[in-house]
Amino acid sequence: MNFRPITALTGAEVQGIDVRTVGPASFQQLRKALAHFKVLYIQNQHLDTEQLCTFSRGIGPLIRVPFIQPMEENADVIAVLKEADETNMGVFGGDWHSDFSFLPQPPMASILYSVEVPEAGGDTVWANMAAAYAALPEATKAFLKDRKVIHTGKPYGTTHAPPRKTRFTGSIQMDRNNPDADKETVHPAVCRHPDTGEPMLFVSPTYTTRFSDLSEAQSEPVLNEIYAHSTKPEFTCRHRWQAGTIAMWDNRATMHCAMNDYDGYRRLLFRTTIAGHKPLAH
Ligand code: SIN
Repeated sequence: MNFRPITALTGAEVQGIDVRTVGPASFQQLRKALAHFKVLYIQNQHLDTEQLCTFSRGIGPLIRVPFIQPMEENADVIAVLKEADETNMGVFGGDWHSDFSFLPQPPMASILYSVEVPEAGGDTVWANMAAAYAALPEATKAFLKDRKVIHTGKPYGTTHAPPRKTRFTGSIQMDRNNPDADKETVHPAVCRHPDTGEPMLFVSPTYTTRFSDLSEAQSEPVLNEIYAHSTKPEFTCRHRWQAGTIAMWDNRATMHCAMNDYDGYRRLLFRTTIAGHKPLAH
């Protein structure tokens, strides 16, 4: 197994591996590489949903995420689908986020496997939140020290629900306006990576509402500054999908965003989610 870095800071392609035949030593190597590179890509794989789950379980135990309907044939998998005729509308994961950061124990990692990809567009972009933290001005680091942030399931709830007229892909069944999603979870704004010890920003525009000690209005300009900083090109890596590619990311240490620039093309990926722990304060 070889790791070919994608950028100096983030992402690596894993070469020389058929994920259907990976053993315990290779899984350990993959977990270590994931903590280091934050995003891993594995091309030319041939999997059904059960084989994807078997591989995913080698990385860690699977969880079933709230508010999103899983596949009928396999309840551990979400089909991330936008049909060719679903145009001029929102796409699943189309704003920067860390997956389900509003859970008390957010996922440790997520895995996508591409089944059908658009001829043009449909890339996914990841931001490395450890690299972004390291490059913050000292004054911002001082501001963030010991601060906490509130996360909620904004897109699925009532308090921060997107406008009702917003059109969103109907190919993924998800709860909207579910009051359970308004529940607030408090996490440290800067967390310590449990494997590498690195400090990392843990904020997520899709789910973070404010700092716990500040109002939304007071928090907004600071959070927006942090989001703009974290998503600067130098902290990101971008993936152009081919069918049969696995992408997995360390969800504690990254945000990601699906590009919604492929109207007129069908895009289908299968997605699994790996259990995590309560985030540690740095
Ligand atoms: C996601 O946020 O899990 C979906 C990302 C993608 O479709 O590229």
